[in-house]
Amino acid sequence: MASTQKVLVVAIDFGTTYSGYAFSFKSNKNDVKTHLWETGIGQEQSTKAPTSILFDHLKRYHSFGYDAENQYSRLSDEQQKQYYYFKRFKMTLFNNQDLNERTMIKDVSGREMRAMDVFAAGIKYLRDHFHTVLRGQFRSGLVGSSEIQWVLTVPAIWNEAAKQFMRMAAVKAGISGDCLTLALEPEAAALYCQSHSGSFQLGNTFMIVDAGGGTVDVTVHKVRLSGKLQEVVPPSGGPWGGIKVDDAFQTFLMKIFGLAAIRKLSKSEILQIEREFEIVKRSFSQNSTMSAMDIRVPYCLIGHLNRSNASMHSIRIRGDKMNIPYHTLQEFFKGPVQKIVKHVRELMDKPELTYTNGIYLVGGFSKSRLLQDEMKQAFPYIQIHTPQEANAAIIKGAVIFGHDPNIIGWRKTTRTYGIDCVSEFDHDIHLRQKYTLIEGREYCSDIFTKFITVGTTMENGQATPYQSFCPVYSNQASVPLKIVTSPSESPTYTTDPGCRVIGTINVKMPDLTGGTDREVKVRMIMGGTELKVEAVDGNTGMSYSAKFDFL
Ligand SMILES: Nc1ncnc2c1ncn2[C@@H]1O[C@H](COP(=O)(O)OP(=O)(O)OP(=O)(O)O)[C@@H](O)[C@H]1O
Ligand SMILES: [Mg+2]
Repeated sequence: MASTQKVLVVAIDFGTTYSGYAFSFKSNKNDVKTHLWETGIGQEQSTKAPTSILFDHLKRYHSFGYDAENQYSRLSDEQQKQYYYFKRFKMTLFNNQDLNERTMIKDVSGREMRAMDVFAAGIKYLRDHFHTVLRGQFRSGLVGSSEIQWVLTVPAIWNEAAKQFMRMAAVKAGISGDCLTLALEPEAAALYCQSHSGSFQLGNTFMIVDAGGGTVDVTVHKVRLSGKLQEVVPPSGGPWGGIKVDDAFQTFLMKIFGLAAIRKLSKSEILQIEREFEIVKRSFSQNSTMSAMDIRVPYCLIGHLNRSNASMHSIRIRGDKMNIPYHTLQEFFKGPVQKIVKHVRELMDKPELTYTNGIYLVGGFSKSRLLQDEMKQAFPYIQIHTPQEANAAIIKGAVIFGHDPNIIGWRKTTRTYGIDCVSEFDHDIHLRQKYTLIEGREYCSDIFTKFITVGTTMENGQATPYQSFCPVYSNQASVPLKIVTSPSESPTYTTDPGCRVIGTINVKMPDLTGGTDREVKVRMIMGGTELKVEAVDGNTGMSYSAKFDFL
């Protein structure tokens, strides 16, 4: 599998709300460095910058991160109407079944651009920023691009199409596909927690809850020999991240000041409220003894205060400050926090998790004291760990993963994998519309020949037995093998719901001796985050293989 010998590993965490990168040299793997971005919130610095991108009226990249936020809020009204400004757009990939290179996404004003261009521009910004830092700070301009292993993190619960989309965006951003590995966000976090905690001991089982801005991603691993991790249950989770708190706050603002007044706010006033709320959200989380908190709101809103709604929520206005009591702030957190706790409870009821030794809360939203307290209350018998660098756990862990992808030794397959082929037609079983007659023989097309069943635990390097296929034409000089996946255990046809073609291998069979009695032997090999498919022409012994993301 790719990577381990590379001089340098760089991981990019392209988050729903915040993005960043981290890296370390092979000579000192554990010394993982991150860039610290100026947050614009006081003197605070952060390992990630907002995933906000601004494009000009010609859809040319303009700026990224805090810079994009500031630039956009300072644009004239005319420019704002023409420019494209994207934020919190990663969730558009979540459960999007029709995702492709031409998929369009809407910016904050509803103007459309190709999602691929937006994602690629964001990844490119981070890639270029890293190269600038490398050249300047480390004077290591001499590290050749083939010496760099890139890792791009993706939520574990995303479907294959979304993960593949991120890979394509990274390649479009200038990262060579051969030097790129995808890593699952909570899996990367598990590696970070393992390297920073003494409690990952042989035989122990740990749950990682990566509570980000958009998604909450949960994985469970068991520590096996030589510290390798085995996935215990497939990754799971849902869209219950920190932005749900922001959404609740927005709904609340509309109730207090009315939709019309909120709509009239300028972009810079909206940015100001968002940043104010982010400060409140974070400090509220860290100090749950506070009885109320102040949020500065634009003066123009004050006149629109709906007094009865405000008094219902015990809101008081002093100058340009809105004083919100603890119990109202708490309400904003309730929805996502309850969903996270409920999901973890359902997982804990599974027999495989009976002996879970600990839960690690990572990701920005996991810093919420409310979430931490609710989790501790719900699972008093399990140790809940909240690592110091909960935020950076994902990117830092992804760097550890890039140096040694085999450290996740066993994975549970989340899909069934197979080959699309034809079989002899059985009039009692097969669908009439699949019937095809070739060289006088009756075949059934679109048959899903299964190699790996969903839910199987596979070790790195483990190969399936060979299965044989024959050409259908006697003078056929090549066989295109379509690799297919399905969410179900025993799909019959490759056209069944949820089936997808993930790629093709073209096996050349130039020696026509034997006609249709020639044989192609195929097997699949689990290689960490990659699935290798190997095909051998029985006549010539020539072997063909291709790799696909296996996440
Ligand atoms: N101290 C804190 N208390 C509560 N929430 C916080 C705190 N710090 C950060 N957050 C929230 O965490 C979220 C960001 O977390 P993170 O950076 O892990 O997400 P992301 O990687 O952008 O999203 P995802 O992983 O879903 O793609 C934001 O909603 C932010 O407001
Ligand atoms: Mg994240």
